[in-house]
Amino acid sequence: MTGSAMRAVTLDNGVERPILGFGVYQIPSEQTEQAVPEALAAGYRLLDTAAAYRNEGAAGRAIKNSGKLWISDTGEENARRAFDEITPAANQIETHPFFQRTQYQRLRVERGVQIGSWGPFDEGRNNLFTHPVLSDIAQAHGRSVAQVVLRRLIQRDVVVIPKSAHADRMAENFDVFDLELTDDQLSRTAGPDTGHSSFLDHRDPAMAGRVGNLRLTD
Ligand SMILES: NC(=O)c1ccc[n+]([C@@H]2O[C@H](COP(=O)([O-])OP(=O)(O)OC[C@H]3O[C@@H](n4cnc5c(N)ncnc54)[C@H](OP(=O)(O)O)[C@@H]3O)[C@@H](O)[C@H]2O)c1
Repeated sequence: MTGSAMRAVTLDNGVERPILGFGVYQIPSEQTEQAVPEALAAGYRLLDTAAAYRNEGAAGRAIKNSGKLWISDTGEENARRAFDEITPAANQIETHPFFQRTQYQRLRVERGVQIGSWGPFDEGRNNLFTHPVLSDIAQAHGRSVAQVVLRRLIQRDVVVIPKSAHADRMAENFDVFDLELTDDQLSRTAGPDTGHSSFLDHRDPAMAGRVGNLRLTD
């Protein structure tokens, strides 16, 4: 494990989870079986997968084969109990430099809902990795734009789950715990926010209808 120690957040239900994890969306199944052990070797202990990513089985097999199965809160009964809870303990939303959603942060204070970021790099859209402000801050620390993007979310206490299919980038993305952005740098990172999604608007009825009708067998 590189960098200083991993930070954890404690959810409202008392569960502790690492503030930095690994996402496997859009990694093909065969590659997921290789990527997951690489991510575990880099130090990740929070993995984000879902049936809709169509690689959940591969991720599960890779975790099982790694001998690092530490999760106890699985199974239908536990899942049902979680659904019965009125307020979710965590909410994963699109969050990146072009859609920062800082207003959601107050949910953490007011309702104890931990915010998690998906798409922290905006999947590379908007030339994120060469953005002038982010590049300038990265250069000041001798780090990469990816590390600055992840670090600013962690300094905002947002859980973040970057995806990479490359072992060197997995390690780079994990190596952010000895990086500290200054208040001035954090304010400058607010600049690129457009206030709208780069992907889809969940409040658009047509889009909600399409998403609601998606079936895993499609
Ligand atoms: N809850 C939801 O609705 C939802 C929706 C979408 C995603 N997610 C979760 O969030 C995770 C992350 O979001 P995402 O996969 O959409 O996109 P992302 O993490 O914003 O971006 C991934 C892209 O960035 C590249 N990348 C990663 N590290 C890099 C680095 N250090 N330098 C340069 N390029 C780098 C990756 O390329 P390579 O792979 O080639 O390295 C890939 O093209 C997903 O995998 C999934 O687990 C959840």
